[in-house]
Amino acid sequence: MARMAASVVESGEDAFRKMFKFYKKRNPPPDYSAVINFSRGAPSDKIVPADLDSAAVSDVEAARVGLRPVRDWRAFSLQGYPGFIFICNPFLSGSQSYWVRQCLKIYPQKPNICNLDMHMSPSDTEDIWGKSVHALSSPTGKKEPKTLLERLRWVTLGYHYNWDTKTYSANSYTPFPADLHLLSLQVTAACGFPGFNSEAGILNYYRPDSSLGIHVDESELDHTRPLLSFSFGQSAIFLLGGTCRQDPPTAMYMHSGDMMLMSGQSRLLYHAIPRILPAPQGHTTLEMEGCSLTSSLQEDAVVEPVSEEDWALCSRYIHNSRVNVTVRQVLGPGQSFPETPSPLQRTDTGQTDGPHDGAADRDHGKRKRSSSDSVDPVET
Ligand code: OGA
Ligand code: MN
Repeated sequence: MARMAASVVESGEDAFRKMFKFYKKRNPPPDYSAVINFSRGAPSDKIVPADLDSAAVSDVEAARVGLRPVRDWRAFSLQGYPGFIFICNPFLSGSQSYWVRQCLKIYPQKPNICNLDMHMSPSDTEDIWGKSVHALSSPTGKKEPKTLLERLRWVTLGYHYNWDTKTYSANSYTPFPADLHLLSLQVTAACGFPGFNSEAGILNYYRPDSSLGIHVDESELDHTRPLLSFSFGQSAIFLLGGTCRQDPPTAMYMHSGDMMLMSGQSRLLYHAIPRILPAPQGHTTLEMEGCSLTSSLQEDAVVEPVSEEDWALCSRYIHNSRVNVTVRQVLGPGQSFPETPSPLQRTDTGQTDGPHDGAADRDHGKRKRSSSDSVDPVET
């Protein structure tokens, strides 16, 4: 059965693209039997339990950001992908709801930047949540214009990623959310990377038919720091490839609460999301009960209970959507952004033809996510 997916790929050209199309296709739907499901994860010759540094994060520090004790996390690495770590939903029961609420209500707020800012005035995008609450929570059954929340496709945090130039810059920076930094700091420390600086974040909002094109995240200036990814809501198929497009990728499910860390030799690998899938039964509903947090919270907790009112909108949203958060350290210790090169210098460097032109290919050379109403991340 696994042969099904493998047989799609022949040696030679762009094995990644073929696999992307294989999993994106709807009619007939693909065979999912080769997709790794870590949450069912009996270790195999490919799936190896990963050793985490449980001493790096105390149980109290973990609980403050809504995480179980590190020794209880189920973490895996993948044969052939050194530096890649997959952590099966390490959140305490009920605490994902806090992070979902932050992603939908708080992080899209100013001064953060979102896709809607590309063609709307700041005053129109000021209160995405408030402007969406009514329509999303009381559907009339009629075909209504989409709410701002439903039109949200990406948000950038910290050093704001420039989709056109594919760069970060010193003069486009706003403070990175303290709570998300603390979560990232604990997870990276547990994975063996103490002292992580969360400097840039990209949130992607996926509808059931969204996908994210094949790319490499290489715009950060220090590739020795890991890239961290959190997923909430509906599930996805994640494809992890090699350093070139001919390398056939490995497919895996990402469910709500799952995390990934790309570091070392896996930091600059091609990857993509060809497909969003319904969460397994019970995954999002039971796990995320909005108000079940209260009893267990410590006094200095970062996560806080989500009001029933807020959770009503969040749960309606994630019922058919997925949110992914990637957190990046852009600069190494003591590093700063280079002076912007003049056009002449740019030509001289010849960097655009480098081996990792993946980020440029993020949108498959078709629709740019930066364009004004780029609502669906990518069409292939
Ligand atoms: C990204 C990314 C993957 C995902 O934003 O760079 O690769 O799981 N996201 O959505
Ligand atoms: Mn990426």
